[in-house]
Amino acid sequence: MTSLIEKATRRLEQLRQAGADVPDMPAPIKVAPAPVEATPKLPPIQSRLVELDLELLERNGIIIPSSPRSQLADQFRVIKRPLIKNAMGKGASEIVSGNLLMVTSALPGEGKTFTSINLAMSIASELDNTVMLVDADVARPSIMRMLGLPQGPGLLDLVLDDSKDLSEVLLKTNVDKLTILPSGTPHPRATELLASDAMTRLLEEMASRYPDRIIVFDSPPLLITTESRVLATHMGQIVVVVHAGKTLQSEVKQAIDTIDSCPVKMLVLNRSSSLFKGGYGYGYGYAGGYGYGQSQGQEQEQEQAA
Ligand SMILES: Nc1ncnc2c1ncn2[C@@H]1O[C@H](COP(=O)(O)OP(=O)(O)O)[C@@H](O)[C@H]1O
Ligand SMILES: [Mg+2]
Repeated sequence: MTSLIEKATRRLEQLRQAGADVPDMPAPIKVAPAPVEATPKLPPIQSRLVELDLELLERNGIIIPSSPRSQLADQFRVIKRPLIKNAMGKGASEIVSGNLLMVTSALPGEGKTFTSINLAMSIASELDNTVMLVDADVARPSIMRMLGLPQGPGLLDLVLDDSKDLSEVLLKTNVDKLTILPSGTPHPRATELLASDAMTRLLEEMASRYPDRIIVFDSPPLLITTESRVLATHMGQIVVVVHAGKTLQSEVKQAIDTIDSCPVKMLVLNRSSSLFKGGYGYGYGYAGGYGYGQSQGQEQEQEQAA
């Protein structure tokens, strides 16, 4: 079928050949105005953008995407590799909610928050993965402080108010693939909120809404409160930070006993001076324990398969 424009062009050409004074440019085609919608659509909720001071973070020992090769960055490469594999369902066996990953430890001050942030930054530098860092240490939140950001609404507000959408409180950052979910408005019954059905629904939504997104939860110590134990029941993977030369073996064992239900547990040794060869103040060690609780033979098998 000949289009209207073709027809018009041909007509103009005929007129020109007949000696008519025809301008080169065809008259603008009038377009009918778009029909006005009865109810204007609300713009989609945009997550707020926050600016991380990357130079300051780097000075404080946090890996940033543009960091030159450092020992700490290398250590986190080793730690994150099997975690990403499991999260993406590419491990030895499929793990339910493998993309929900909690960082915890027996006691306060062992480096849970430091590890969570570095792990999230390290995963954010991957091409294929995005990462959401969640401050689930609702009683003593410290992610925002460690990142130099002000506290704001977050996790607890979502659990309290079903009508709130994740995107309303989630923070985008100047690190392309990293978003942050603060712990939110302090609440006297924070522990109960974390154990509520609303929290379970939220975690299920988080795990399934963006399958390529790895969600890293910073959490309270296992031997002091019960929050982490409750959270652990929803996690596909748990990283247990052990403060080298400080956490007692019995404490580590007791802590791991409390998170029995989680299919994958990885022990990482923090501040191990034997691993320190320069660069950052403390080293990280992969203390093994992958698939902890299995026999040594099975463990080796898993590591070879990974
Ligand atoms: N490997 C490390 N290198 C340098 N500083 C560290 C390291 N691990 C922890 N820290 C620092 O030690 C302090 C306690 O760590 P933090 O992550 O807050 O512990 P937790 O969250 O387990 O209570 C923080 O000031 C943190 O920056
Ligand atoms: Mg902490």
